[in-house]
Amino acid sequence: MAELTFLDRIEQTEDAAALRAESYRLLELVPGDTCVDVACGAGHAVAELARAQIKTIGIDADEGAVATARSRTPDAVFHVAPSDDLPLEDESVDGYRAARLFHLLADPLPTLAEAHRVLRPGGRIVLTGQDYGFLLLDSDDQDMSDVVLLGLESRSIAPRAARSLRDWLLDTGFRAAEVVVHTEVITDHGLLAMQLEVAAAAAVEKALITGDDAAQWLAEQADRGRRDRFLAVLPTLLVAATR
Ligand SMILES: C[S@@+](CC[C@H](N)C(=O)[O-])C[C@H]1O[C@@H](n2cnc3c(N)ncnc32)[C@H](O)[C@@H]1O
Repeated sequence: MAELTFLDRIEQTEDAAALRAESYRLLELVPGDTCVDVACGAGHAVAELARAQIKTIGIDADEGAVATARSRTPDAVFHVAPSDDLPLEDESVDGYRAARLFHLLADPLPTLAEAHRVLRPGGRIVLTGQDYGFLLLDSDDQDMSDVVLLGLESRSIAPRAARSLRDWLLDTGFRAAEVVVHTEVITDHGLLAMQLEVAAAAAVEKALITGDDAAQWLAEQADRGRRDRFLAVLPTLLVAATR
C-alpha cells in the first residue's frame, strides 16, 4: 500500500499527466470506443479516459490497486486479473494500454499474446515504461551513482524491458510500431528522496557498496537538493502499434 501511495503521488505531477496524455494521443481513440488499461494501478488513466467518453476497463492483479482505482471512477468497469489472462472476449477492445508493467514481468510474451487476442484488428496498443539503463543522476561521485542505479535495477525483474517493447510487439504480430520518448527532468530532490533511499539500500543489500558509501551518497544528493543542484533525467519510452 505504501508503494501505491507513492505511485499515486507521482501520478499527480504535471509531468505524469503529460505522459499519460501522450499515451492517449497514440491510442487514437474516439468517444464511444472501448479501451482496456492493464496494470491500471491507482486508476488515473482510467479516470481520464472515462472523462473523455471512452468506455474504459481497468485491470490490475492487485486487489488494493483496483479498489483505489474504483473509488476514483465508480462508473468504470474493473477486474482483478493478471495481464496474461484477461477476462475479456476476443477482439473486444479498440485500445489496449499498459503503463509501467513490463519491467515487472519475467516473461512478456504471454501478456503480449493476450493483448493481441483482446484487441480488434486495426485497434491500437500503447505500452509505456522507463528503461532503468538510461536513468541519469548528477553527482560528485558519478561512478557511485552508476552503482546505486544498478542497485535500483536489481529490484526489478526486467529493468531494461522498455528497449525491447518494439521488438516484442512486432514478434507478436502487431504492425507499424513507433517509439516516442518522453523525458522528465526533476530538480526537486524531495520528489525522488524515497526512491534514492530504496536504490541505495538495494545496492548495499547486493553488496555493491557499503552502508557508509550509501549514507555519504544520500547525504550528497540531499545537499544538492538543499542547494538547488539536484538533477535527475528520467526518459520514458512509449511504444505504440496497430493490431
Ligand atoms: C508500477 S505500477 C503502474 C501502475 C499504473 N499503470 C501507472 O502507470 O501508474 C505497476 C502495476 O502493475 C500491477 N501488476 C504487476 N504485475 C501485474 C500482472 N502480471 N498483471 C496485472 N497487473 C500487474 C501492479 O499491481 C501495479 O498496480
